[in-house]
Amino acid sequence: MLLRKILSLRLFRLSLRFILPLALALGLFAFAVVPLVDSLTLHWFVKDLDIRSQSLANAMQDPLAEYVPLNARDRILQLFDRAIRDERLYAIAFCDNRGRVVYQTLTYPKALGCREAPPDGRPLPAQVNLAQGSLHVAERTIEGDNGSLGRLILVHDMSFIEHRSAEARLYVLALFGVLTMVISLISVVVAHLSWRGWINAVKGMLRGERTPNAASAGQVDIQPLVGDLHAMLRELNLERRVLVDSPQLWTPDKLRSLLHDELAGDEVLVVSNREPYLHVHSEQGITVHRPASGLVTAVEPVMRACSGTWIAHGSGSADRETVDRQDRVAVPPDKPSYTLRRIWLSKEEEAGYYYGFSNEGLWPLCHIAHVRPVFRSADWEYYVAINRRFAEAVVAEARTDDPVVLVQDYHFALVPRMVRELLPKATIITFWHIPWPNPESFGICPWRAEILEGLLGSTILGFHTPFHCKNFLETVDRYLETRIEHEASTISYGGELTQVASYPISIAWPDSVADSPIDAVTSVAGCRRSVRDQCGLSHQQLVAIGIDRLDYTKGIIERFEAIERMLELHPDMVGRFTLVQIAAPSRSSLEEYQSLETRVRSLAARINERFPAGAQSPILLKIEQFDTSQVNRYYRAADVCLVTSLHDGMNLVAKEFIASRDDELGVLVLSQFTGAARELHEALIVNPYHIEQSADAIYRALVMPAAEQRDRMRSMRVLVRDFNVFRWAGHMLLDAARLRRRERIMTKIRAHSRPYLRRAAAS
Ligand code: G6P
Repeated sequence: MLLRKILSLRLFRLSLRFILPLALALGLFAFAVVPLVDSLTLHWFVKDLDIRSQSLANAMQDPLAEYVPLNARDRILQLFDRAIRDERLYAIAFCDNRGRVVYQTLTYPKALGCREAPPDGRPLPAQVNLAQGSLHVAERTIEGDNGSLGRLILVHDMSFIEHRSAEARLYVLALFGVLTMVISLISVVVAHLSWRGWINAVKGMLRGERTPNAASAGQVDIQPLVGDLHAMLRELNLERRVLVDSPQLWTPDKLRSLLHDELAGDEVLVVSNREPYLHVHSEQGITVHRPASGLVTAVEPVMRACSGTWIAHGSGSADRETVDRQDRVAVPPDKPSYTLRRIWLSKEEEAGYYYGFSNEGLWPLCHIAHVRPVFRSADWEYYVAINRRFAEAVVAEARTDDPVVLVQDYHFALVPRMVRELLPKATIITFWHIPWPNPESFGICPWRAEILEGLLGSTILGFHTPFHCKNFLETVDRYLETRIEHEASTISYGGELTQVASYPISIAWPDSVADSPIDAVTSVAGCRRSVRDQCGLSHQQLVAIGIDRLDYTKGIIERFEAIERMLELHPDMVGRFTLVQIAAPSRSSLEEYQSLETRVRSLAARINERFPAGAQSPILLKIEQFDTSQVNRYYRAADVCLVTSLHDGMNLVAKEFIASRDDELGVLVLSQFTGAARELHEALIVNPYHIEQSADAIYRALVMPAAEQRDRMRSMRVLVRDFNVFRWAGHMLLDAARLRRRERIMTKIRAHSRPYLRRAAAS
């Protein structure tokens, strides 16, 4: 309300700012135009009187030629009197050739006499001002049979011209007045519409919509302001964070105490497809691996802090050998703090549920990276069956009837409803780690209603960005019969409420987990040296890194093309620059991923051939799994980190790179289509589809002065440190605690009111 008032006041002031100068300018114009109109009308009227006098004189020529020689005074005066009945003709006189007034009407001004021409021969003016007023005087020689008889003088009253000219002045002024009003009205309406468009575009941006869309919706370009607005928001957020979160930042301890205080120590169960630790057979016996997964990177530190049980697919080759009889194993292996419960899948189940429905269907459906989603009924059936298996595992692992269940990602869209049916009092927090598309795109899925119904079993449904939340609300609105409260961002379906909110995921800040201390080997200088040695690069080589799963959404092809373009534009970089691309093999049994690998390999080879530089070739491609500490060394060794995803829910590589750079150097080139780009504004933001733009950004990153790198890096480090993964989990759990409290109060109210309702019904 207040905002609306302020806006309308602003709008009024804004309108005044338009109207006042406009009125002033038009007023001045009118002031200049009025005398012009005056003299124009005068000129026209004088001309008109000349013509009238001429025709009158013509009409009198013949009677006067007859009467004057006869000296027929009465007739002549009669003729004159008849003529001056015309209201504009004021007087008539006739002068003889000797210059004497012979005949005249009574009205004829004496002062006019016979209007002798001055000796210099100048013509006498037609307009004269006498005591009678302003008069027009015209003369005409009357010809007789033997030459001139004398001159006829016709005098017109010009006062009517003054009236007309006053009227014209009035009309002109009124016209300008009306014009001012109409133009003002149009200006105010246009200003109002632009203002509304602008406000809508800014509001859209604050809600997290992609700026160009929001801006074009209002037909207003707010692009130049986006950076400033984001910076302002950041400042506000910082202030709010200080108030809300101070004195400590979000840490594992703070999360633990939140669980204890707000959720009364309730148990936490996590459900995800990918497990945080895989046991695999290797030459050294059974070894433990951490998978390349943003989900695992984020949720694992949270589970360390919360304890509880993590239910996931046991996919390691030695997984079965390392669990107890209940398929459980305590992790992390070096310092166990929570339980990993493994679920087994047959090859067919994995093919249908994981490779098929999840990764050939939902993954491309949600990412819109120009790979067609494939939906098969057989895959769907596996998806339903495996979701049920995980939901039953939740019930089996739960020690209470109201646990907090954290359901992770697109593999388990049906689990929330299934758990809700089995454990109605559970608090189910579902987090969708990938983008949520617009309703039209999502509508492709043949089981769209089932998926939406499944997700609406959640108490809270989280996405990375407000934009994905909005897409989800619109999708539900399009395909399900529900009640949506847009202000509160809740969906009521089948008597249950789901809160839809954005929780931008993050990482654990290195200080907050047990990291090895920095020594000569792990120092930035040590990492720079060792990585360059290991890659056969000179110590002066400029190094960019790309660290991704080998996935078509990551824009690896586009990244290579940008490198190629950069080298075309800056040949001096050939031999001085190398991109080390680490691509962890992923979902390799799918054709799309196999063909991507072939394309990535051949493009890298072609570019290296095109710009030969021996050991210092432009692209060093490593298609292999890397463990966390190795990846960290590469982050620290790099001059530039390239994240060029075509679409990405968040992208934690960007945040990991920033967290690793305690030297405050290094430049992040970041795709605008990642959730991370909504937070990391000091990165060089690029559109990965625009190869030239990316090439420019890479070059700019390579030559960026250290001071600028430091400024940017410092600001991003503060953000990633403060907006860490404990805050992500903490905010979801705080919201869950609030909703649980509300539910408990509602249950009590319902229980108390039941007897009254019964009595009321009976009476
Ligand atoms: C994304 C998904 C995760 C998934 C990860 C790795 O980050 O959101 O759910 O775990 O990719 O993919 P993978 O198929 O290997 O688990």
